[in-house]
Amino acid sequence: MAANKKIYQDALQTISARIDSLLEQMTLAEKIGQMTQVEKNSITSAEVKDYTIGSVLSGGGGNPEPNNPQSWAGMVRSFAEAALKTRLGIPLIYGADAVHGHNNVKGTVIFPHNIGLGATRNPDLVERIAQATARECLATGVHWNFAPAVSVPQDIRWGRTYEGYSENTELVSELASAYVRGLQGVDLDGMWVLPSVKHYVGDGATAWGSSQRHPWLADSNWQAGTEKYRIDQGDTQLDEDILRSRHLAPYVDAIHEGVLNIMVSFSSWNGDKMHGNKYLLTDVLKDELGFEGFLVSDWQAIDQLDEDFYSCVVKSINAGLDMVMIPFDYKRFIATLTQAVNNGDVSQERIDDAVHRILYAKLKLGLFEKPLADESWLELVGSETHRELAREAVRQSLVLLKNDDETLPLNKTQSIIIAGTAADDIGLACGGWSIDWQGGKGAITEGDTLLDGIKTLATVSVEYESQGDFSTKADIGIVVISEDSYAEGMGDRKNLTLEDSQKSLVQKTRQSCDKLVLLIYSGRPLIITEIVESCDAIVAAWLPGTQANAIADVLFGEFSFSGKLSYSWPRNMTQVPLSQLNANDEKPLWEYGYGLS
Ligand code: BGC
Ligand code: BGC
Repeated sequence: MAANKKIYQDALQTISARIDSLLEQMTLAEKIGQMTQVEKNSITSAEVKDYTIGSVLSGGGGNPEPNNPQSWAGMVRSFAEAALKTRLGIPLIYGADAVHGHNNVKGTVIFPHNIGLGATRNPDLVERIAQATARECLATGVHWNFAPAVSVPQDIRWGRTYEGYSENTELVSELASAYVRGLQGVDLDGMWVLPSVKHYVGDGATAWGSSQRHPWLADSNWQAGTEKYRIDQGDTQLDEDILRSRHLAPYVDAIHEGVLNIMVSFSSWNGDKMHGNKYLLTDVLKDELGFEGFLVSDWQAIDQLDEDFYSCVVKSINAGLDMVMIPFDYKRFIATLTQAVNNGDVSQERIDDAVHRILYAKLKLGLFEKPLADESWLELVGSETHRELAREAVRQSLVLLKNDDETLPLNKTQSIIIAGTAADDIGLACGGWSIDWQGGKGAITEGDTLLDGIKTLATVSVEYESQGDFSTKADIGIVVISEDSYAEGMGDRKNLTLEDSQKSLVQKTRQSCDKLVLLIYSGRPLIITEIVESCDAIVAAWLPGTQANAIADVLFGEFSFSGKLSYSWPRNMTQVPLSQLNANDEKPLWEYGYGLS
């Protein structure tokens, strides 16, 4: 026993020898503990030790009080230390959604959401962003990032459109692979961050109205009588050839990059929930594509498989799921899986395979050698170097859609009026998955707004009036319209046309300036056809994040516009989803790849 113990702790042994020595010693309870990932609000450090829990996560907005990098580091450390006190001392892995920077944590740098990075077409930039994100994660002890999303969104009514780099598979693959290389290659004193490539598979192709309600789930987000959760978590109705060429392809590339974790999608394929789909989880991903890592479920997703929880557990584990993400009652999961193994409904081999995969990733990561974060890394969080990188990303993400009579770039001596709440609002610039799951409004974290940037660069008067009630006339009017922030199915919207208040803000401001520049903060193209004529210049700024001030650098011509649309920009709602646009002869307002410079 003592000799065995040495083997798995010895970094000079091969990984497979180390895993074998562990598997030999582990009890069923210890194995099932490794397969369990619990949300931090549902467990204490003492329980992590008692149940030999393999992973703890923060859901969106799963922050400690106060929310700052130091207390994050302290929170993660207390869970990690508890795991080290277990009989075998298998290190815990802490996971979080650092989907555009380590975005739950106040004081971190929040980068543009993926839709903006898609417009940059710049894999090198994306790789550097992933490295910066990895450094900020590692500083707080987070070794596992639930990113990148390799969704290929086909319907911009989907509330997760902005989490996808593009509607185009090749671009998604190229940028996601770069992101994976960045997380895996960061090398902070030898440490790196485990990517979770998600959501497997076809999450971007669900049909509007196909999402299901699960009456037995009290915590379900499905809300009667609303548009929410009407496409998110829905059904992807496609034949296998298209599923493979359009939606599986980014996983094939990610596996070539050596990814060791993939998150399963809430969605279904032709009516079958992905979490129970043995063919896609095991036969295709593990056997055919040779994926050596582990599969994690999405948030309470296995509970959707059946009203009977025992069936949920048996079906998902037998389908090939290796670790289960449990927001609430993890004790029930542990008891149920234990019972299923004792009943012979889940085999010991399946458990060993799952644990093997989890331990393989933990050993590869170097967690056994360095399970805890280094406190000196905290100075990297929110650093000026990372903020400069975010500014670079913002500049490259801007897509110039219209520019009559060379309205842009602006001249620093022109007088300027600015309207629109988003012009001076960090929360609206960040969007969802920012401090809170759904994001927020106002000064949610440190950062600089577009207004800050304009004030820094302009040499003459700049008047800001959020509602557009100006008393003076100016050379240039800038209007920023935005979507309110949202995440996941909460952002499903049937109709993407502008609200009356947004249109009237444009018309009002138009009357107080010679030339009008429209800036759009949004997680997807919006239907703006009616106001295009009223604007001299139009810029899509997506969800720029905490360094929105960099937009001003481009407006004033210190840098040029270079972004290209990574989604088609529809003229009207009959051109949504993409299949509708493609089925029609009428062109979109702006085509995929469009962008003036
Ligand atoms: C989302 C995932 C996310 C997970 C953890 C789920 O609801 O679908 O994208 O990684 O929650 O927060
Ligand atoms: C999200 C989590 C979030 C939670 C809040 C889930 O659906 O995926 O990330 O923390 O809802 O209730």
